[in-house]
Amino acid sequence: MDERGGYRTWGGRFEGRLHPRLARFTTSLPVDIRLLPYDLRGSLAHARMLTQQRIIPGDTGTQIVAALREMLREAEAGTFPIDADAEDVHTLIEAELHRRLGEAAGWLPTARSRNDQVATAFRLWVKEACVACCGAVVDAQEALLRLAARDGHLLLPAYTHLQRAQPVLLGHHLLAYVWMLRRDVDRLRQARSAADVLPLGSGAAVGVSHPVDREAVARMLGFARVSENSLDATGDRDFAVEFLGALALLMTHLSRWAGEMVLWSTEEFGFLALTDAVATGSSIMPQKRNPDAAELIRGKWGRVIGDLVSLLGVLKGLPLGYQRDLQEDKALVFEAADTALDAVEAMGVILGEARFRRERMRAALAAGFPTATEISDFLVRRGTPFRQAHALAGQVVRYAERQGKALTDLEPEEWSSLLPGLDAPAIEHLRAAVTPEGAVAAKDVPGGTAPGRVQAAMEQAAREVGRLRQWVAAAAAEEQRVREEIRASA
Ligand code: ARG
Repeated sequence: MDERGGYRTWGGRFEGRLHPRLARFTTSLPVDIRLLPYDLRGSLAHARMLTQQRIIPGDTGTQIVAALREMLREAEAGTFPIDADAEDVHTLIEAELHRRLGEAAGWLPTARSRNDQVATAFRLWVKEACVACCGAVVDAQEALLRLAARDGHLLLPAYTHLQRAQPVLLGHHLLAYVWMLRRDVDRLRQARSAADVLPLGSGAAVGVSHPVDREAVARMLGFARVSENSLDATGDRDFAVEFLGALALLMTHLSRWAGEMVLWSTEEFGFLALTDAVATGSSIMPQKRNPDAAELIRGKWGRVIGDLVSLLGVLKGLPLGYQRDLQEDKALVFEAADTALDAVEAMGVILGEARFRRERMRAALAAGFPTATEISDFLVRRGTPFRQAHALAGQVVRYAERQGKALTDLEPEEWSSLLPGLDAPAIEHLRAAVTPEGAVAAKDVPGGTAPGRVQAAMEQAAREVGRLRQWVAAAAAEEQRVREEIRASA
């Protein structure tokens, strides 16, 4: 107790109190209050283990467990009493337990320090956040697949250097994002596995002097394994870096997609119509329909990348073991996770509202000779080396450009004077090859944009996304089971 009757976790060797300005400076409660239920679960598992191992008196252990269960129920219901003066969420919980049980509460911190405690609660949080983010990404993938199923047959130019390059199926274009996001889910799963290690039992820095059963605590909390080194476990946050690294790449992918939505909704491109549900107006220009949500997805990239870099900065050069610098980890991770989750969900909504303007896509294929490569490929198949064929095709393009014609407008006579030696069937073949349909049909290789390949890729992607969906559901169910078991068992 302190002089005001408040609960203190430390103070035996102190006469004075921390300067109020520094108390405000060092508190983490406004941020780590989000760990409340996670820390209570960790505390419950710890208390049960202490009781089972007879490290604390049995009746006291039962009392502590009952009180913590009640507190967990209140935390989950949002009725847990919050003392804003607490130093952090761990102190808050300990003080509240003391308020309820008096002296008996003093057994709970046995064989535990806030250093292994905070690492445990934080890892539990990160594990759940990984699954939640995976779920949101899978939602977005499913939205992409729905679009691909509906509009995947539409043709548009693929771009390199943002210049019209070659015709592509919209389905192929959309699937590119499905695969990017699939790798994002893989990385999030790896981050979850990195977080899936129990630090409790590490104490403040070097382990604890009681016969704790770390494996039992890990089982109760759903951790796959226990940490190998107490200094490492209390001082390391690389699992959080891995999580933010996965989110940074996810946001990078989202920002590319968002940038494309912005571009496609310009009148200059005109591939995408913005429905009222995704467009915002201008306060001065009545004609405007702006893609603000997509712009914000692009703009929020900076936060997540900033959080990642900041977290690396927190860790750089830190001495081994827990240092208070580490307290900065949570604000960064929470912000990054909230931002990324928000952005993925917004992307899902925009995808659901996407209305493609097929006539504009088609028109974009009519200019810029995006099927010129088909001429050289055709000549190669007839025995001309590619470099020479490329030059001949270039001459055709130059001719057509001067005539103000598209390749599909060239007459058979023009073809035969440009490429002497072709008979009539060959010229017909070539004229079919330089249509957008002919061009995509020719890309009949694994990973190419031929309609059959895209159809097969869509089916493969749907199967893979289905598997990811199953994984998310199983992981979420397992988390739920662990939470319920902790809440239920006495
Ligand atoms: N609030 C601290 C954090 O978030 C945990 C407490 C450890 N504090 C300490 N003085 N050992 O990292």
